[in-house]
Amino acid sequence: MSNDLGQALVVSALSFAYVKEQKRQCIISDLNLIVRQGELVSILGASGCGKTTLLNLIAGLLEPQAGTIKIAGGHKHNAVGYIFQEDALLPWRTVGHNLRLAAELHHHLKASIETSLQDYLKSFHLSADIVKKYPGELSGGMRQRVSIIQALLFRPELILLDEPFSALDFYTKLRLESEFYGLIKKQNKAAILVTHDIDEAIAISDRVLIMDRDGKFSGEFIVDLKEREPEDVRGTPEFAIYFHQIWSALKSNIAYEAS
Ligand SMILES: Nc1ncnc2c1ncn2[C@@H]1O[C@H](COP(=O)(O)OP(=O)(O)O)[C@@H](O)[C@H]1O
Ligand SMILES: [Mg+2]
Repeated sequence: MSNDLGQALVVSALSFAYVKEQKRQCIISDLNLIVRQGELVSILGASGCGKTTLLNLIAGLLEPQAGTIKIAGGHKHNAVGYIFQEDALLPWRTVGHNLRLAAELHHHLKASIETSLQDYLKSFHLSADIVKKYPGELSGGMRQRVSIIQALLFRPELILLDEPFSALDFYTKLRLESEFYGLIKKQNKAAILVTHDIDEAIAISDRVLIMDRDGKFSGEFIVDLKEREPEDVRGTPEFAIYFHQIWSALKSNIAYEAS
């Protein structure tokens, strides 16, 4: 047991507000979060409650107004990998060129990148000749796989995912969730996944957090499932219990539009 109990992320008393029409709008208030190495945590919450803002703060794209964010390995440029709903691949570069970006930006990664790249293509069921294609020639599922590989090649300590599978068809989504979960566990990485999908959150998380409209976590569910294969996990009695508990906690936070 090396450092699998190590903390990949410690967020303490974090607050953040956007200023709109000279009014401070508090989005995140006094929020605490610890994510351990090898742990996959999902965040569920109503639209607009501050999930993306929190990820942007952790990624260092926004500055906290109070509190601290500590990431294992310090604030190296590549300590955090960020995967968005839409892939951020450069359309004028081939897949291979997109994937070798990490080596161009960080020379110490150069030696290992070719082997890692080939291994990742295999893990995500992509053929080796995909590197010659352009992002525009790929399906949404393939582009999202390439984006995930691109983020992993930077060897981040912590991976942030903002609704990464929501634009994909259901079957691709199931496969990709399971491939991603397997890889995170194999590499003992930490990941935070923002999603709207309760099933997805349960299937691939060790812990599910509910974010309420006050920018705090109002619920926490430890997900202890023996079965994680996408074709089996959803049928288990435990899964149904988790779904019921999480939905009960979540629905009070979700406002319905009157129709
Ligand atoms: N750049 C911004 N300036 C002002 N308000 C913003 C900005 N970005 C997001 N907001 C507001 O902050 C709130 C939280 O947004 P966001 O973090 O994107 O929520 P979520 O990802 O949970 O849907 C929303 O009310 C949104 O309108
Ligand atoms: Mg969002």
